[in-house]
Amino acid sequence: MGERTMKKNILCIGAGYVGGPTMAMIARQCPDRRVTVVDINEARIQAWNSDTLPIYEPGLNELVRACRGRNLFFSTDIARGIAEADIIFVSVNTPIKTFGHGAGYAADLQYWEKTARLILQHATSDKIVVEKSTLPVRTAAAMSRILRTGDSRVHFEVLSNPEFLAEGTAVADLTNPDRVLIGGADTTTGKAAVAELIALYSAWVPSDRILTTNVWSSELSKLAANAFLAQRVSSINALSALCEATEADVTEVARAVGMDSRIGPKFLKAGVGFGGSCFRKDLLSLVYLCESYGLQTVADYWKQVVCINDYQQTRFVATIVQAMFNTVAEKRIAVMGFAFKADTGDTRESPAIRISRLLAEEHACVVVNDPQALANARRDLTDLGDRITYEHDPYAAARNADAIVFLTDWQEYRQLDFRRIFQSMRQPSFVFDGRIFLDRQELFKIGFNVYSIGRPPLLQ
Ligand code: UDX
Ligand code: UDX
Repeated sequence: MGERTMKKNILCIGAGYVGGPTMAMIARQCPDRRVTVVDINEARIQAWNSDTLPIYEPGLNELVRACRGRNLFFSTDIARGIAEADIIFVSVNTPIKTFGHGAGYAADLQYWEKTARLILQHATSDKIVVEKSTLPVRTAAAMSRILRTGDSRVHFEVLSNPEFLAEGTAVADLTNPDRVLIGGADTTTGKAAVAELIALYSAWVPSDRILTTNVWSSELSKLAANAFLAQRVSSINALSALCEATEADVTEVARAVGMDSRIGPKFLKAGVGFGGSCFRKDLLSLVYLCESYGLQTVADYWKQVVCINDYQQTRFVATIVQAMFNTVAEKRIAVMGFAFKADTGDTRESPAIRISRLLAEEHACVVVNDPQALANARRDLTDLGDRITYEHDPYAAARNADAIVFLTDWQEYRQLDFRRIFQSMRQPSFVFDGRIFLDRQELFKIGFNVYSIGRPPLLQ
């Protein structure tokens, strides 16, 4: 290995949740390509090169092990990676801006711009630069301008190729994507670059699932897809409040609504709200974009999706406090599940962060349990110090608790010995099911007072 072959060398800058799994899949499916993933974070690269990968994702270990050291490499040598690559994927993070104009809404593009300047600095041959990160519409154009400021003998062609994988199912989503979207310029070099990327994905993706558009449609489609998905969750969550008020059952409503083939059953699960690195950020980015184009009514429409999500969490905490005789002060409350969804250790924007904080504000003694996300939980709540405790064993977390609050629908929680838990708790005991995934009749029979979102409570 090492010497350049006919096939183009691939580099990915950013070894995160998107860059790592995506590049492992490309390496696996295209054994004749050399794929290198670089990152400024040395510890992260070390982890990718170790037996304990930096992210938890079903099937990822096997995938990485099959190619690492063969045609998949993880390194911190960004300069060399850029110099040797023909196609550069950029998958650095684009968090919400925390300062200046657009703070709290706009995407923070500083890492993207720094990366573009690094590419410019170290490139000595033509490059295709691919946006993998979710970015505001027209970012590619800005990047092209930066890249054009250098040595005019080197040509950069910027493409947009957003990633639609969901965490927890990344490997399955990458293996069998609904679509691969490639946005490129309608010029000779643009079309050639798009053809290169199509060739790459064609190794395993059927051609009718590979879509090409102009760059801005591609950038906007990613924001739009996430906004639509989030909107469905907020729609059903908005109805869950009405269900609780009227004694309708949100799971029955969702089922009936979802059986309309025009609507479909997915993303209609009510709960404590959506989390994850993308939905909130992309919605707010869309809102900011609409506002900057003077489309205030459109901006307000999408903003409301975020408002319902926040509302759902405060509403859930209000239910807990009210159910427990209007006070949780000094009561032990076990928070079961901190990850933003099952099968991931990721806690970015997890509803559990806000809910734990609100419970701590009510002076509850919060004990957090999660099979994968405890380290992240500690970091997210670090400023609360010893007001929060962390417990690896769910039974120990529940011992002497007044309530157990389920915020992530981990499979292992379904299998808990709830009788044993009930006997170890203070009475009366409460279960709050924030993901509507437990057998509530069974819990009620054991002796719990059972509250699940969007359904009438079962009270002893
Ligand atoms: C991705 C996308 O990039 C983001 O835009 C999308 O909305 C969500 O998914 P993700 O892979 O989840 O982000 O982010 P993260 O796990 O934080 O990985 C980004 C990596 O880029 C980090 O490891 C970080 O160290 C690295 N990075 C960041 C660089 O290598 N260089 C930089 O300048 C900045
Ligand atoms: C999402 C998109 O699905 C993916 O295409 C994009 O690339 C990145 O953002 P992800 O954030 O990993 O992926 O998770 P997803 O499975 O979409 O769930 C997002 C959140 O919505 C989770 O907190 C989940 O619990 C919640 N959700 C999802 C619901 O509350 N109800 C549902 O019916 C579906």
